[in-house]
Amino acid sequence: MEVIIQRDARSASLLAANLIAKEIRTKPSLVLGLATGRTMESVYLELVRFHEEEALDFSLCRTFNLDEYVGLAPNDTHSYRHFMNIHLFNHINIDKRNTHVPNGLARNLGEECQAYENRISDCGGIDLQLLGIGVAGHIGFNEPLSALRSRTREKALSPATIAQNAPLFASPDQMPRRGITMGVGTILESRRCLLLATGAEKAAILAQAVEGPITAMVSASALQLHPSCRVIADEAAAAKLRGTDYYRWIFQNEPEWAEFR
Ligand code: F6R
Repeated sequence: MEVIIQRDARSASLLAANLIAKEIRTKPSLVLGLATGRTMESVYLELVRFHEEEALDFSLCRTFNLDEYVGLAPNDTHSYRHFMNIHLFNHINIDKRNTHVPNGLARNLGEECQAYENRISDCGGIDLQLLGIGVAGHIGFNEPLSALRSRTREKALSPATIAQNAPLFASPDQMPRRGITMGVGTILESRRCLLLATGAEKAAILAQAVEGPITAMVSASALQLHPSCRVIADEAAAAKLRGTDYYRWIFQNEPEWAEFR
């Protein structure tokens, strides 16, 4: 794992977007795993800007989102499919047939989850998985005690996730109580992972995920097992990390980061 600390949320999002853009330029048919949520909005804003100003080309990209609410139609304004359309897909030259979000309305959710796993394999696996972190440590909707080898499945949302996301709904009880999510095991199979955390409310859980023990109670801690995982945090989210001097030293000294310093 590598931890990169940036001055503020804007620079952290910009660095995340730059890393994604670099991967797309290197491999135009990149299989990109995507996340939703407030943290991602500014990353997608930068990617749209790169598309408009620098002709970043998404035409051959394939994407897989981590999760979706059970019971919401794709055109529901609270669905993650809708989030992706309005924040990214509608503004870039991606073929929407190559964008995948689990179907929260599937009649047989078990079959939908297996089919989602199959679609990922058919595309050759995920090259780069973008991740946020929930206040209780989830990645995707992998709530506390999600098995470290879990696969795409239906999951009950935890009270912490309901409290985190309910304010986004007109009334809190409109928020679905279940989601479909890639499993922790599915995420760990991505070739590279990139987790972005910004804001003081993520500081305590980020420290547990990065420097604490690997535990199913904090799904993001499983990323310590991943052979190629980068964590980008702004100063506020990094505030409770103990190893910040070391992480800054790596960023200043590793040649791979020269172009981003
Ligand atoms: C959503 C997802 C979640 C979010 C996390 C942080 O697709 O994967 O794990 O990344 O809940 O959400 P925000 O960014 O709203 O704090």
